Amino acid sequence: MKVGILTGGGDCPGLNPAIRGVVYRGLDFGFEFVGIQEGWRGLVKGIYEPLGLRDVEEIISQGGTILGSSRTNPFRKEEDLQVVLANIKSAGFDAIVALGGEDTLGVAAKLYSQHGVPTVGVPKTMDNDLNKTDFTFGFDTAAGVGLEALDRLRDTAKSHRRVIVLEVMGRHAGWVAWYVGMAGGADWVTIPEEPVDMDAMCAHLESVRARGKKYALVVASEGTEIPSDGEEAVVDAFGHVNLSNRNVGEFLASQIEARTGWETRSAVVGHVHRGGAPTLFDRVLGMRVGMKAAELVRDRQFGQMAALVGTEVKGVDIVEATATLKTVPTDLLGLIKSTYK
Ligand code: F6P
Repeated sequence: MKVGILTGGGDCPGLNPAIRGVVYRGLDFGFEFVGIQEGWRGLVKGIYEPLGLRDVEEIISQGGTILGSSRTNPFRKEEDLQVVLANIKSAGFDAIVALGGEDTLGVAAKLYSQHGVPTVGVPKTMDNDLNKTDFTFGFDTAAGVGLEALDRLRDTAKSHRRVIVLEVMGRHAGWVAWYVGMAGGADWVTIPEEPVDMDAMCAHLESVRARGKKYALVVASEGTEIPSDGEEAVVDAFGHVNLSNRNVGEFLASQIEARTGWETRSAVVGHVHRGGAPTLFDRVLGMRVGMKAAELVRDRQFGQMAALVGTEVKGVDIVEATATLKTVPTDLLGLIKSTYK
């Protein structure tokens, strides 16, 4: 079988191990691989390169993706969609393995369900917000980078007797903020799932100070709802707002300082989350879901996504997986609140 592999959406550590997993397992079945460059853009523009053992052998410890990525959505323009369908045919692909999050896999799901294209999905996102899989690779590494930042901020916040707000990524879901806040012992965490209660947050920070703690740490997800500045939001090909110019951390820091009188600073992790070597967890998960994707192709289980369910990796319905996002549930929100002492 001739199998095209592509990686789309925001990159994250674990993509290269996952590409390697697909190729290594696929070689067991005699597959020929082609690397489609830069996500779905590679199929719109017809940019492919052969992909063999030598290309993937040494990439297990590398962040990023050797195939490149983009946020191209071929369903935006009918002519792009027709070119993609024609290119899949003319390149002779028997299957397309797409590595991505809700958007990239949403395209794979539609190509399969609406046009019969034999696609298999591999879930990736540092946001960890894909449904039908317990974790996505990229999250552990990215959240670990956020945690390291928070640990560092604790030192300087303590020395200067300040509040520091750390803004972390996470577009529609607060998984990164929740984990960083829980693991780093933050005094308050804000996430997109729940509007910030500014009065409660500031009252809590004041009570922390009153009981003698000389600093405080707040973790803010970039997707936290804050009052809009009235400017029209810039959106990508999938209609997502670019959150980095909203400056959530800076906004919260100014509110905290104004309301409590406690000197406050803010810092942003941003794209630093997404670089660097994948953790052990992300390497193994990447390899495992990649290998499972090759097995799904062998078994002609198209329209499936290789998912981590408990400790098992198995195929789940890609249309269902991309229908809704996995957000932080209320019970976990309750748990983090119980750490506000
Ligand atoms: O979806 C992953 C993610 O890192 C989000 O957390 C973030 O909002 C977005 O990508 C940033 O996208 P870009 O790299 O296009 O700025």
